[in-house]
Amino acid sequence: MSVVIRSIASYIAPIRVTNEELAAKMDTTDEWIRSHTGIGARHFAPDGIQTSDMAASAAKSALENAKISPHDIDYVIVATATPDYFGFPATACIVQDKIGAYGAAAFDVVAGCSGFIYALDIASSMLESSHGRNALVIGADSLSRITNWEDRSTAVLFGDGAGAAVVSRIDEGARGCLSFILGADGSGAKDLYLVQPERSSAYERQAPMVPVISMNGKKVYDFAVKSIIVAIERLLHKTMYRLEDFSWIVPHQANARIVQAAAKRFSIPREKIYMNIEEFANTSAASIPIALAEMSEKGLLKANDLVMLVGFGAGLTYGAAVIRW
Ligand code: UT7
Repeated sequence: MSVVIRSIASYIAPIRVTNEELAAKMDTTDEWIRSHTGIGARHFAPDGIQTSDMAASAAKSALENAKISPHDIDYVIVATATPDYFGFPATACIVQDKIGAYGAAAFDVVAGCSGFIYALDIASSMLESSHGRNALVIGADSLSRITNWEDRSTAVLFGDGAGAAVVSRIDEGARGCLSFILGADGSGAKDLYLVQPERSSAYERQAPMVPVISMNGKKVYDFAVKSIIVAIERLLHKTMYRLEDFSWIVPHQANARIVQAAAKRFSIPREKIYMNIEEFANTSAASIPIALAEMSEKGLLKANDLVMLVGFGAGLTYGAAVIRW
């Protein structure tokens, strides 16, 4: 028995904003953004499109690709840091209703940009240990809703989007989600968190204000490089695979320099690492499933390929997975 990613699909937000367009509105340049992050553009969701809409759209496409009915889904798990509602209900419940997966249990996972890997591990364990057969594992974030447009060091980094995987328990044992590493360092909680903006006037104090991203970029950068290295080392030790065994390494798309630093440490050839940050920027929990969906559409993922996912994010959290495709 094993748990496989049966299909994968994404929702790409339609409003494409280039670095030049951002530079026309704030004190930044295409040159700075590209040289410090590798980002060339980002995609934003239109007003009125919520995280659950993006997640439901990706989920419907994944169900179509898998040729299974929403009625056959046992669990809907949404990894997100930007839920439709703060606190409750879970965005996964809204998605469950929007796609008609009426029999499914539904809940959210809050693990920042590592959320998709956390959710995949949870789904995999639940399918292995329960009578459930199929889960929808979704990473979805609307970061444009919580961007602080006054802070150029974070405003240029993020985009919106969603990616969804149909994850199924099958009887054959050689393929699927083989191993996971999850970790966290909560002492860095305030290195990347949502903060209520200062209210300078009495008028502002009357109005509800949306919290915005606050990040200590250098601390998160250092954590990211260190945690990618630790996660890969722990995963190789646990599984006894060598890096040469992997066809693909799919990292969280936060900053091309972070990935290059980790790749240098292990001498991983550039062509084994899948990057699409130039087009989509950092879409948080959506970044890894969006990358996988794009790879799948391009025919880059072949049966039996060994694939490593690795991510890090708010919490601070990190995670890695080995999948036999
Ligand atoms: O999913 C996890 C989420 N977060 C991350 O992965 C982010 C991790 N951190 C990073 O990627 C990097 O720290 C950043 C990309 C956020 C920043 O890069 P950096 O090389 O650490 O830049 P810095 O913060 O040291 O700033 C260098 C300079 C500063 O100017 P001075 O003080 O040297 O004059 C900044 O004011 O760059 C300036 N700067 C900018 N200039 C133009 C900061 N943001 C911008 C900008 N455009 N957008």
